[in-house]
Amino acid sequence: MKAQLRALEAEALARIRSAPDLAEVEKARVQYLGRKGALTGSLRDMGRLSAEERPEVGKVANEVKGAIEAALLARETELAGTAETERFTAEALDVTRPGRASTRGGLHPLTLVVREILDIFVRMGFGVAEGPEVEKEYYNFEALNIPAHHPARDMQDTFYVAPGVVLRTHTSPVQVRVMEGQPPPVKIVAPGKVYRCDSDVTHSPMFHQVEGLLVDEGVTFADLKGVLASFLRVYYGPDTRVRFRPSYFPFTEPSAEVDIQCVLCGGRGCRTCGGSGWLEILGSGMVDPAVYGFVGYDSEKVQGFAFGLGVERIAMLKYGVDDIRLFYENDLRFLTHFS
Ligand code: PHE
Repeated sequence: MKAQLRALEAEALARIRSAPDLAEVEKARVQYLGRKGALTGSLRDMGRLSAEERPEVGKVANEVKGAIEAALLARETELAGTAETERFTAEALDVTRPGRASTRGGLHPLTLVVREILDIFVRMGFGVAEGPEVEKEYYNFEALNIPAHHPARDMQDTFYVAPGVVLRTHTSPVQVRVMEGQPPPVKIVAPGKVYRCDSDVTHSPMFHQVEGLLVDEGVTFADLKGVLASFLRVYYGPDTRVRFRPSYFPFTEPSAEVDIQCVLCGGRGCRTCGGSGWLEILGSGMVDPAVYGFVGYDSEKVQGFAFGLGVERIAMLKYGVDDIRLFYENDLRFLTHFS
């Protein structure tokens, strides 16, 4: 019986030591030490031994059990260590490798230009206002002294949304909304999208304008000239030459278009300025008294001027962009030039 136990021990230790993984170790444990295991079976047979034999065999059986338990623990520890090492190797990170650079976003060139323009006017004391892009005909035309069937409505081919509702063709309706909402004095600039049925390399059906409006007592055309010339000299540089040309808008009287000396040829004449040496940059004028009538201002007491400038045009001239569509395609090769 002792020999049998020793043989069992030898077999068990060999099995355990060569067990390839933890699952096999567990199987060996059940096989040798489990309730139906080989060692348990042998111990049960001890009942048949004589009283002298029993203690001796019992001692051997305990030794065998101890040896098997120790072997199980040793193999388990060994395998667990290997598994951990393997896991660590597989998960290892080389923290000395260079990182992957993250690409940085930037502001869209039109956003940049609008912000620069607003900044300059804010420093001159203007506030910023906004209005809806889907606008009532009343605000887009009527209240700006452009009645139905007025030929000026054809100047700006209009997208109609519903009867009496349009996509605004300019930011000038914001003038009316601001004056309706507050008494004079008014001193605001209003950036935003505008829409016209028009599309080629210099015209987009959606584009951006910045509107300006200043109304107070005693405002004259000299104030208009001073504010706009100051703006253009800050934006384009102190030596920029500025020219005011008579023009017509139904909501201003008198009206003027403002030109700057061509930024590309310096006034000598080139393709961009059509050989004239001048670039048209904005529309402006003294607010027509008829407009005050729509908003309840007393045209005997207050005077004011308004202007509207095209953001894309300014951006194209500033950055030498010759196709307006580049601003909307969002090709990163184009956009990253500006950030
Ligand atoms: N709203 C005019 C346009 O879009 C520009 C303008 C604004 C002219 C304000 C005069 C005064 O062409």
